[in-house]
Formats: sequence, structure tokens, C-alpha cells
Amino acid sequence: MSSKKVTNICCLGAGYVGGPTMAVIAQKCPHIKVNVIDLNKERIALWNESDLGKLPIYEPGLDDVVSEARGRNLFFSTDIERHILEADMIFISVNTPTKTYGVGRGMASDLKYVELCARQIASIATSDKIIVEKSTLPVRTAEAIKTILDATGKEGVRFQVLSNPEFLAEGTAIEDLHFPDRVLIGGEEDQDGQNAIQALVEIYANWVSRERIVTTRVWSSELSKLTANAFLAQRVSSINAISALCEKTGADVKEVAYAIGQDSRIGSKFLKASVGFGGSCFQKDILNLVYLCRHFNLPEVADYWQQVVKINDYQKERFAKNIISTLFNTISDKKIAFLGWAFKKDTNDTRESAAIYVADELLQDGGIIHVYDPKVSADQIHSDLEYLQRNRIEKSNDKLAFTIEDIKKRVFVHDSPYNALTNAHAIAILTEWDEFKTYDWINIYNKMIKPAFVFDGRDMVSKKEMEKIGFKVYSIGK
Ligand code: UDX
Ligand code: ADP
Repeated sequence: MSSKKVTNICCLGAGYVGGPTMAVIAQKCPHIKVNVIDLNKERIALWNESDLGKLPIYEPGLDDVVSEARGRNLFFSTDIERHILEADMIFISVNTPTKTYGVGRGMASDLKYVELCARQIASIATSDKIIVEKSTLPVRTAEAIKTILDATGKEGVRFQVLSNPEFLAEGTAIEDLHFPDRVLIGGEEDQDGQNAIQALVEIYANWVSRERIVTTRVWSSELSKLTANAFLAQRVSSINAISALCEKTGADVKEVAYAIGQDSRIGSKFLKASVGFGGSCFQKDILNLVYLCRHFNLPEVADYWQQVVKINDYQKERFAKNIISTLFNTISDKKIAFLGWAFKKDTNDTRESAAIYVADELLQDGGIIHVYDPKVSADQIHSDLEYLQRNRIEKSNDKLAFTIEDIKKRVFVHDSPYNALTNAHAIAILTEWDEFKTYDWINIYNKMIKPAFVFDGRDMVSKKEMEKIGFKVYSIGK
């Protein structure tokens, strides 16, 4: 395969990864035509909306990038066939959730969407293509993609598969894409592999300096993605574990985090104690790592990483149980107001959000939940809870504890925080949206049932100030 210049890119999957990544590639490479494809027609229609406030994902700065490139060299469409045919390079950015059935259930990534992409590409392509895996994938997926492509592709058509993990964090995706710490590209060691790597390097080199573009063999690249997320999640679980000890000893986790973060060997990032990490990557990637270790008969290594997820589950459960015990051991029919539902601020993504698990625990105990989140819809919140229930049933063969109708009768979603908070017995802060810091807490206190409790899962309010107003405050790690 020669090192032909790439002029046409196609991306399968217009989600949180594919959408922003392709928008930035199109913005920075006006000479390349970028087509983003999705099976979901509604999603594509939203990407094509003239009102940029309706883009299917919320990400600061994304609207500006889309408005600059869309219609010029960035296009969103459902026409898979045409755009695969035209493309020199095809990114696979489809979802890879944790399997909910069969072998590896609850651990391994479900690769059915990736496999379908490989089969689609193989059946359509009539010329050589470079395939770039962008989805979070287990180690050796590139090899599986290549096997499918080579076995089912058309005679004489050759494929190179690269691994190019995405390190953007939601909420800061555009900034992370514009100024990446590094871009990682893994490829085969032979000449064809090196040519393919070079073709992708050339694209990023339009705005990223070459020293920041790291090239490796495929498996190192795949494993680096899992390892980076496992290390980051481990830091959060480590500080969350210490937060429990702080609460027992009178230490303040914020002071501890600051003190240890000053050590340049430790560093200050990812040391914010919280109600627990969420998001589509951390838990999934660690479980992938654990599955991989078990597969290769490394039980000690598997147990080591699994503990990061266990501490995270413990932190969410601890937070919910504390609400119940503090409210005199019963929350039956009590109104608990949730500030925030997204897994972090500045995103409308709710996958694996701690709020879902905390809400579920409270519902089991008879609580009534009123949610306000600036970017998450009522439908999303209700379906997150239903999805969790279904997962639990699949695991335990139990019957559905709450139907979607039950959930709608017990979980109310508001457009205004003040509606959610009025007459509440307690407030739980689950996401660190900046606007929560600006609220009129005296007014809120006056509207609540007394004693008025605040459970701060994100270090958003000053315990001291809130206690002065009259609130009873629980802050993680204090
Ligand atoms: C993560 C990685 O950061 C990114 O590089 C990778 O590509 C995808 O996975 P993301 O899941 O979008 O990104 O968000 P991140 O900022 O890493 O936060 C993950 C979770 O950890 C959030 O729920 C966040 O609130 C929580 N967190 C993070 C903490 O609780 N404390 C911290 O100090 C940092
Ligand atoms: P991520 O966070 O990894 O980007 P998302 O779920 O936000 O995950 O986006 C993945 C997208 O991929 C979804 O919009 C889904 O419809 C799309 N998708 C899944 N399979 C295919 C496929 N074979 N071709 C095109 N798009 C696909």
C-alpha cells in the first residue's frame, strides 16, 4: 500500500467521540472532505440542524467548530455506502458498551457494532482503505477487524488497520482536541503499516506538533488507552477511599489532596474526592483490563484493578446510605432534590453517572426524587433508571422492581432549580455545574422542610457558610 495523501475521510459513528473529533479534523484540514455517518437518522438530523443549540451533544465550543466547517468540508449523513466507497481513510467511532449477555457479561466490551462496521466496510470497499479504530476497544481488536476485512473483503482490496485512541475528556473535548497532550497512533511494523501511520500523522500534523505525535505498535496503542483510563480512575478511587477515612478522623480530604498534590511526583490533577466517577470510559476500560488479565490467567493483576471499580461502587453506595441514615433512617415519600444528573459538568452525557446509582438506592427506600440538571432531559433521566433496573434483572433473574411508569411517578424532572428544591427534605449535589455555586441559598433554605439537609457530593458549597444559614451539611471527606 503506497503512502497516498488522504483527501477524503469517512467516520462511522456520530457520537461523543466521532462528532467532535471529526469536526476538529475538518476545521483544521480544510483540504480534506470529512463525512460523518451514523445509523441513527434522528442523530444525523440534529447534527444538520441550522439551530446549533440543537446539536445532539453538548460540548463547550463545539457549535463554533461545526459552524466553521459544516457544509464546507464537514458533512453528516446516513449514506454509509457512498461515503465508504469514496473514502481513503475510515474511522470507526461506534459505541462499545460493556456486554450485558453471554461470555464476558458485565466485563468484556460488546464488539457487535465494531464487527458490523468491519463487515460493512469489507462488503462495500472497492479500493484500498486505511481503517482507524477510534472507539475504546480491548487489546487485539485491530487484529480482529483486520481478520474480518481480509476474509470478507473484495478481491485485490487491501486494508491497513491503525489504533488511534481518543484521549479527549467530555466537557473539554474541543480544547483537548485542539491542544492534545499527545496523539497516539499504533500500526503494523511492516512498510505498509508504517505508510498508513504516516498518512494519519500527516493529518494531525496540520495542528499538532510532531513531538506530540507518538507512534507505536498496534497492541501498545490499544493497551495504552485502557491503562491511561485505569490510572486516572485509580487516582479518583484512591482519594475517594481516603475521603472515607477523613470523615472518621477529622481530617479534610481537600487539604490532604492539596498537600499530596504539591509533590511533583504525585501532581495535583484527578485528586478531587467525589460521589464517584462516571462516564462511558473509566469503568468500562478497567473492566476490560480485568477481563484481559483473567483471560491471560493473571488473577492477582485482575483483582488489583477490579478494586478501583469496587471502591467507586462503595463511594456511591456510601453517599446514598448516608442520606437515608441521616434522614432518620427513612426517606419513604420524602422529597430529595438532585442538583445535577450528568456524570460531570459541561456535558449532557449521563452514562454511568453516579446520580443514577444514588437515585436507584433512594428509590428502593421509598424516596421521591426531583431532579434539576441544566443539560439533561427528563426522558434521558427516566430511561437511565429503567436501563439500570433492566440490567439488575438480567443479572439476578429478578422481576422488574420499577416499571417506567413507576419511575415517572417517583422521579420528577424540572427546568428550574427552585421548583426542584421547594419543599424538599434534602438536597443532593451530584454534578459540579458552575451555576450551583451562584444560587441564593438563603432563599432556598426558606423554601425547604426543616431540618434542611444538604449532601454535597462535589465539594460545591462551603459547609461553614451553609451551616450559618441553618442547613445541616454533609460534605464528602470532611
Ligand atoms: C476520560 C479520560 O479523562 C479521557 O482521557 C478519555 O478519553 C475518556 O475517559 P471522561 O470520562 O470524559 O474522560 O471524563 P473525566 O474528566 O476523566 O472524568 C471521569 C469521571 O471522574 C467524572 O465522573 C468526574 O467527575 C470524575 N472525577 C474526575 C472525579 O471524581 N474526581 C477527579 O478529580 C476527576
Ligand atoms: P461514543 O461516546 O463512543 O462516541 P456514542 O454512543 O455517543 O459513543 O456514539 C456512537 C454512535 O455510533 C451512535 O450514534 C450509534 O448510532 C453509531 N453507530 C453504531 N453502529 C454504527 C454503524 N455500524 N455505522 C454507523 N454508525 C453506527
